Amino acid sequence: MARRDVTARVEQLRCAIDEHNYRYYVLDAPTISDAAYDHMFRELLALEAEHPELVSPDSPTQRVGGAPLAAFASVTHRVPMLSLNNAFDEEEVAAFDRRVHESLEREHVQYDCEPKFDGLAISLLYQEGVFVQGATRGDGYTGEDVTANLKTIRSIPLRLRGTSFPRALELRGEVILYRADFARLNEAQRNRGEKEFVNPRNAAAGSLRQLDPRITAARPLRFFAYGVGHVEGGRLPATQSGLLDLLLEAGLPVCAERAVVSGLDGLLAFHADLFGKRPALPYEIDGVVYKVDRIADQQRLGFVSRAPRFAVAHKFPSEEATTEVVDIEVQVGRTGAVTPVARLRPVFVGGVTVTNATLHNEDEVHRKDVRVGDTVVVRRAGDVIPEVLQVVPGKRRGHPPVFHLPKKCPVCGSAVIRLPGEAIARCSGGLVCAAQRKQALLHFASRRAMDVDGLGEKLVDQLVDRGLVRTPADLYALTLEQLAGLERMGERSAQRLLDALAKSKGTTLARFVYALGIRNVGGATAKDLAAHFGRLDALMAAGEAELEEVADVGPVVAASVRRFFGEQHNVEVVRALRRAGVTWAEGEPRRSTRGPAFDKTFVLTGALPDMTREAATALIEAHGGKVSGSVSTRTDYVVAGAEPGSKLDKARALGIAVIDEAGLKRLLEQG
Ligand code: IVH
Repeated sequence: MARRDVTARVEQLRCAIDEHNYRYYVLDAPTISDAAYDHMFRELLALEAEHPELVSPDSPTQRVGGAPLAAFASVTHRVPMLSLNNAFDEEEVAAFDRRVHESLEREHVQYDCEPKFDGLAISLLYQEGVFVQGATRGDGYTGEDVTANLKTIRSIPLRLRGTSFPRALELRGEVILYRADFARLNEAQRNRGEKEFVNPRNAAAGSLRQLDPRITAARPLRFFAYGVGHVEGGRLPATQSGLLDLLLEAGLPVCAERAVVSGLDGLLAFHADLFGKRPALPYEIDGVVYKVDRIADQQRLGFVSRAPRFAVAHKFPSEEATTEVVDIEVQVGRTGAVTPVARLRPVFVGGVTVTNATLHNEDEVHRKDVRVGDTVVVRRAGDVIPEVLQVVPGKRRGHPPVFHLPKKCPVCGSAVIRLPGEAIARCSGGLVCAAQRKQALLHFASRRAMDVDGLGEKLVDQLVDRGLVRTPADLYALTLEQLAGLERMGERSAQRLLDALAKSKGTTLARFVYALGIRNVGGATAKDLAAHFGRLDALMAAGEAELEEVADVGPVVAASVRRFFGEQHNVEVVRALRRAGVTWAEGEPRRSTRGPAFDKTFVLTGALPDMTREAATALIEAHGGKVSGSVSTRTDYVVAGAEPGSKLDKARALGIAVIDEAGLKRLLEQG
């Protein structure tokens, strides 16, 4: 390439890369794939490597560069970076609004409303549109020069778009970390065995204050602009909202969650609206900021001590607080999960008083090293269950013992089991554990299990809460009087339920096995187990090796079946159910699990001479085959009867074997 062409191509690539950065980070509307972006980026890198004289400081390749620093230089802010006064409730906002109106001696004042980002404030200096220096807030008057680190943040443009900005423009804004990026960062820290960050703000601050910019570059930091500092050689819009529009046009990320409102009602409506949106935002905010919109008014209002009179931060209730762990207990959930829970000295957080916080699981307790008596940071965000984030270091007194999960369920006394590789421990007393009783009963009665029509959640709640039912077997002992005495139950509906219960007694082995709610045994596995063993006693007596002979049953399922029937109380429930009259047709164990139909997929079409569709399906399934409703390349056989439909045509087109009823019987008999 001729020298002139190289220069042109380099400039073209830089413009294209800047443009795509802008679309991605500022407009939030990328138009090319990551791969296409990377491709351009690599081409630019290659050209610059060949022609080092063409490298310029504002080239997108210069985001990560330079050696680690020994220390940050300090930067004096030409315009101090002040803080905001806070308003914690509506009265305080009303007082702010009143003061503004009185001082300006005007009836109508417009406010620009913005989110209050929970990150760290920085300043960015652009000379002739090129980013030249960036600094942290520091004490508000002097900060640290973190230019090299800020350059690695791709949402910070290295040069501004267009020309409608002052010669020297110092921007103010916030560096943050998106919640999802924070979660990924912490996962990576955990995998490397390094310390996790408590929240996105700490992670962002820690990332920006790295002496080695390569570390910062690896952290997906973001930036939002919300104001200006020192300005020279040019004029800016007359309002804060106009300023933000201009910054957006100049290629800076400006948050879309903003509005111009007037009056106290307008302010409070914005606050309420953003509070509602807060859980869905990709980043954390700790309130909203109201700023008098007209810059001339701002100047008239001025500052008191270190905060402006023209703006206020209306805070949301804090989502984090510190308190003391009074005790660590365990809770058994509806699914049997055994969860350690910290009992706390009551603390106001996230808008409510919190007395318990989850510790998730035993490993988490150990990783965070939480012990009774510790002072901890608790977080409650939105409607999420409060959790213990970390122990506040240096506050532990003495040597409280390390926490361990109990070996027995505190509710029913069954063994607590934690499978290798699983974080969650579970109570094994599914059918008898009071904590799991309601769930177990609902599952037992569900359509694919015993199919007891009319036994819903409200009814199960009442039956269990009144002590009428403990295990599924108790359902069959219910009387008309007992049922008719329940809320919203007349005699008619009570009788209907008794009829449904009576009807459910005649079932199949597969349904019964599924209804027991054995962990890891879903409908399909229950069918496989029933078909394989034929008889319940054979299944109950089977060892793990025998269980693993069943199609699709691996060590995990085998172990949980074994464990279930190894618990005496489960065996008793099974016996009680049979005594209550629950029956099914017991079959012979399958002669061979691996006949020619085993694991094959069949599709039925047309009317078969001697068999109903249901009977043919049952027969195929009993031989380990599956029946599907439509023909595809995964179909092994199409069984065609009289007046077959389009399925037959499709089978022929795909070259799939077509057999008739006699052919099906012959095939199955070979097994
Ligand atoms: S304006 C003179 N706008 O809040 C007023 N600040 O307590 C300058 N902050 O350190 C601040 N979001 O880090 C402003 N939309 C926003 C903000 C915001 C977050 C932070 C900023 C500052 C602190 C002031």
